[in-house]
Amino acid sequence: MATWILGVSALYHDAAVALLRDGVVVAAVQEERFSRLKHDAALPVRAARWCMAEAGIGPEDLDWLVFYEKPLRKFERILSTSVATFPRSWASFPRQMHAWLGDKLWLRGNLCSTFGVRPEKVLFCEHHLSHAASAFYGSPHDNAAVLCVDGVGEWATTSLWRGRGHTLEPVGEVRWPHSLGLYYSAITAHLGFMVNEGEFKVMGMAAYGRPRFDPQLGQLLRLEADGAFSVDLDAFRWHWHPTEAAGPRLAELVGPARFPGTPFTPELAPGDANPAQVAESQRHADIAATAQRQVEAAMLHLAHHAKAQVGGDALCLAGGVALNSVANHRLAAQGPFAHLWVHPAPGDAGGALGAAWWVWHQVLGHPRGAVLDRADLGRSTPRARSKDWLDDLGAHPVDVGDEAPERAAADLAAGRVVGWLEGRCEWGPRALGHRSILADPREAQMRDRVNAHVKYREPFRPFAPSVTAGAAGEWFDIPPAAAAPARFMLSTGPVRGDRRESLGAVTHVDGTARVHVVDPETSPAYHRLIAHFGELTGVPAVLNTSFNLKGEPVVATAVDAMATFVRSGLDVLYVDGYRVESR
Ligand SMILES: [Fe+2]
Repeated sequence: MATWILGVSALYHDAAVALLRDGVVVAAVQEERFSRLKHDAALPVRAARWCMAEAGIGPEDLDWLVFYEKPLRKFERILSTSVATFPRSWASFPRQMHAWLGDKLWLRGNLCSTFGVRPEKVLFCEHHLSHAASAFYGSPHDNAAVLCVDGVGEWATTSLWRGRGHTLEPVGEVRWPHSLGLYYSAITAHLGFMVNEGEFKVMGMAAYGRPRFDPQLGQLLRLEADGAFSVDLDAFRWHWHPTEAAGPRLAELVGPARFPGTPFTPELAPGDANPAQVAESQRHADIAATAQRQVEAAMLHLAHHAKAQVGGDALCLAGGVALNSVANHRLAAQGPFAHLWVHPAPGDAGGALGAAWWVWHQVLGHPRGAVLDRADLGRSTPRARSKDWLDDLGAHPVDVGDEAPERAAADLAAGRVVGWLEGRCEWGPRALGHRSILADPREAQMRDRVNAHVKYREPFRPFAPSVTAGAAGEWFDIPPAAAAPARFMLSTGPVRGDRRESLGAVTHVDGTARVHVVDPETSPAYHRLIAHFGELTGVPAVLNTSFNLKGEPVVATAVDAMATFVRSGLDVLYVDGYRVESR
């Protein structure tokens, strides 16, 4: 009889489930791909139902259901922080208690009634252990240092583990309220972006700036001699205020916060802005550049400490900060480890899979299994049903069947912007050629067109290239240690100097790109598409961005794809071999 384990993460942000059959991932998907609410945090009922249906089982077949953190320990942290920061915490205290006493604290019962399992089957894994398990058990390394860096779990905000065989052993941690993730989020908020959403924008903005606020921000985030870091808590409020992460001292040091939506016109892209606007945008870029550089330095510092404490030649990474692809590149290029492996969903969604693996390997004692070498683990729809939906929506789909990759490549070469849906949706936030918007990467105008008329997002934000594995090294400077993260678009590195002109739409202002290396075995259709585009144009790469509009989750089904298609400037849509043209 097979052993079925359902991992669940929820109630903070990015709720998700992962279903294991004898330790092997059957399906893993976020609730937002069903509810259409971005970062949906609700208990992932629909995602769980879909995963079990996909596996042909019901809740009664589950051997274990594991939640990705320990709510009582988290509640203990919130309660003791509220007491320690009284009276400042008084305003937020009733709201916090309402949320916890009403729902989160009685989680075992909620999980049982929601998912239909008996109480003795429910387990809880520590938040950072869930992250660590997601990073270690999916990797090819049976001997590794495992580093988790995020906002906060129960108490830990950064943790180091020793991974050996099928065991994970704690080595050290940095505890709340000192947090690298929350520090970056506070800067994100100061720059006028939404926390847990706008961090990528800060990373994009940083490329336009210089780290001239080092003396000021260096006072707020310090790297300690013991390998850890500390934050000047007088400058921040995340440890007692429910919504404001930064305090007045940050503004005293680097100037006032950027108002959300303020046009960004730095010196490298001034447009027709007046000199005062350019100077103000440059200040914002320089704040972003300084904070970005600080986070990179902190990650290198933590990695050196990990090397000294754990040794070995592999570092496995998870936690929300592991989504910082620029920092990942620096770890790969300049860090002390020969190999870097990052879970494709390093944020809290990935904790669902980590917690499930923790049960299988650490609790039940099973040896390591297959490497997680693909991210298409999520929701799919039978092709016939997609066709019915497209017909019902009046889309007039044309069945191009197995020729879809070559047809799409020809569309791209003809300057069309393509919505591409193929197979199962991706696990994690990156679109990796299953739910992607694709375009010709050669001319910079295409970036501006996709930003302005397709995705409706800020003009300064870069797009990533997907490149065939065989050609990647000729076009991008990818350090050997970044080979694995580049498969999941989790590392950013230089476009080779002589290739930048041929990749105008995907080369960022600093000459880098968040390159996605596409493997022919795990992504055959997408690889064929890019290779054919290369035959047509001489450039074996395409512009790849997630198939969604600003503020919406990535599409999952043909219906979602059509809803996005008709509201955007996409020219052509492909759904599992059906081609739809814009009218
Ligand atoms: Fe986390």
